[in-house]
Amino acid sequence: MNETMKTLLERRSIRKYQPRQVDGAALEEILKAGTYAPSTMGRQSAVIVLVQDPETIAELSRVNAEIFGRPGTDPFYGAPTVAVVLADTGLGEANARCDGALVMGNLMNAAAALGIGSCWINRAKETFERSEGKALLKKWGLPETMIGVGNCILGYADGAAGSPAPRRDGRVLRV
Ligand SMILES: Cc1cc2nc3c(=O)[nH]c(=O)nc-3n(C[C@H](O)[C@H](O)[C@H](O)COP(=O)(O)O)c2cc1C
Repeated sequence: MNETMKTLLERRSIRKYQPRQVDGAALEEILKAGTYAPSTMGRQSAVIVLVQDPETIAELSRVNAEIFGRPGTDPFYGAPTVAVVLADTGLGEANARCDGALVMGNLMNAAAALGIGSCWINRAKETFERSEGKALLKKWGLPETMIGVGNCILGYADGAAGSPAPRRDGRVLRV
């Protein structure tokens, strides 16, 4: 099978990670793939904030768990790297979310292609609507008008990934 097709079919969400950090060269390739996602009118509205500092990851995780209604848990599964994807709402919130989602997809598929585990972690929108998230935006030099789209956790899988769920019937309509 074509290698790209194989990656698309075999990528799985990883929820258990080894503590070792992602290889730097591989990470650069993953981030580059993220920046090559299609975007509304080619405006490249989405940005990726690479977070590897354990304190900031812990803060993002704490806020995320609170929003989730599961305080004290780690929705980031101990992953050593988090790529936070945010997008500019200049062309509307719907487009910002679409642009960001495609970046997320590229990040996860590129990671899979390079043998690195990933998972989309939700609640980025709510994170950056809160005071803690807004403080991070300020620290990162980003405008408050950016919306959180997703958190892409990255790391080496600890154990084998599960099998994909069977694909639901009737999802492709030929008309
Ligand atoms: C928009 C979106 C939000 C998601 N949020 C979470 C999340 O918060 N936590 C989590 O463990 N997985 C999350 N996932 C991963 C999905 O649960 C996962 O993609 C799905 O179960 C299919 O599994 P697969 O990615 O291995 O094919 C999210 C996926 C998407 C697309």
